[in-house]
Amino acid sequence: MNSLEDYFNKFSNFASQLSEEETPFIAICIEKLQENCRRFRNAYPRAKIFFAVKANNHPVVIQTFRDEKINFDVASWGEIQMLLHEGIEPTRMAFNAPTKIPREIKEAFLAGVDIFAFDSIMELEKLAMLAPGCRLLARVVVDNTGSFYPLDQKFGMDEREACQALLYSKKLGLNPYGLTFHVGSQNTDPEAWVRAMEKVAVLRSEVYSQGIDLQVIDIGGGYPARYGKSIPELEEIADRINNAAGDLFPDHVELWLEPGRGLVSDAGILVASIINRAQRGENEWLYLDVGVFHGLIEAWESIGFEFPIRTDKDGGAQKRFVLAGPTCDSGDVISRNVQLPDSLTLGDRLYIFSAGAYTNAMAFYNGISFPRVIRVD
Ligand SMILES: Cc1ncc(COP(=O)(O)O)c(C=O)c1O
Repeated sequence: MNSLEDYFNKFSNFASQLSEEETPFIAICIEKLQENCRRFRNAYPRAKIFFAVKANNHPVVIQTFRDEKINFDVASWGEIQMLLHEGIEPTRMAFNAPTKIPREIKEAFLAGVDIFAFDSIMELEKLAMLAPGCRLLARVVVDNTGSFYPLDQKFGMDEREACQALLYSKKLGLNPYGLTFHVGSQNTDPEAWVRAMEKVAVLRSEVYSQGIDLQVIDIGGGYPARYGKSIPELEEIADRINNAAGDLFPDHVELWLEPGRGLVSDAGILVASIINRAQRGENEWLYLDVGVFHGLIEAWESIGFEFPIRTDKDGGAQKRFVLAGPTCDSGDVISRNVQLPDSLTLGDRLYIFSAGAYTNAMAFYNGISFPRVIRVD
C-alpha cells in the first residue's frame, strides 16, 4: 500500500462516519494502531519495541499499546504517571530523554523505572545521585542524513566521549547497559540506521575491550510516516536493519526500537472546518478552526511537514490557497501553497491525514507542564 490514493481510500470511510462530530477533532483508528504494532513486531521479530510516548500520549493510544504488549520510551515523570495510571509496569518503561529534570529521575527510580539514557557527564552524575545502580544507555550522536527533522545538534556524545563516560559510569556504581541513537525523525533512508549501527558497533567493541559487555543496541525512532512524498515500506527498512544487526552484533545483544511517528501517525485523521475565506492581495486564504498552535505545529514553516489533505468536494476545479489557523498570530499558517477545491467555503470540512503523531500530544508535550503562574502584588 504505497500510493497516497490507496491510503486515502482506506481511511476516508472512517472519517466520514464522524460527520456528526463537531470539529476540530482527531479520529484515532484503534485497528490501525493494532495493525502498526503487528507490522513492527513481524518486521523486527527479535527486537523489543518501545513506543515513544511523546508522539501521542492519549489514553486510548497508551491502552492499545499496553494491550499489544508494547514497551514505552518515556520522556518525563508526567508520562510515567500516565502509564502507571493505565496499569503499565515500570519494568516496561525506559526513561530515554537524554536530559532529565533531576526530581523526575528520583520519582521515576523510586517508582521502579530502571533504564535511563544519558549523553553528558553531568547527566551521568545526576543519575548516580538520584538513581543509584540504574541501567544506562549511552546516547551517541549519528549522521541524520535522510531525515526530515534532524536531531543531531542537540543530542548525543561522540564515540570518545561515550567510551569515557561508560567507563566512568562504573566508577560511579552505575550499570552500563547499552548504546542508543536517533537517526532523526521521518528518516526515509534505510542506510541511515545501517551507518549508525556500524558506528556504534565499533564503539561497542572498544568498550568491550575495556571490560564492559553492553547488552543492548537501541536504534531509536525515525521510522517514517506517509505525508506528501512516498516513503520506503516499514519492512524494507527492517530488512536492512535486521541484516546489519545480525552482521554487526553478537547474538546475545538485544535490539531495541523506539518508534513514535511510525506507530501512530497514520492512525490519526484531524478533521477541521473552514471558518473563513478571503482574498489578500494575490493570495486566497482559507482559515480553519485549527492551526499550528493547536495541533499542527509540525506544519509550521520552521518544521514544514506537508500533511495530506482531502475534502468532500475533491474532484472539481482546484486552486492554490494559503491555509491558516484561527489565532490572531500571523505565524499561524499551515501551508502557503496548497491545492484544494476552488468551491470550498464556510463550514466545509478538511480531512488532514497522518495526524496521529505530535498533534494532540502538544497539549502536554513530553509530559511536561507549562510553568505555573504565581501572582505577585
Ligand atoms: C529518545 C527518542 N526516542 C524516540 C523518539 C521518536 O522518534 P520518531 O517519532 O521520529 O520515531 C524520539 C523523538 O524525538 C526521541 O527523542
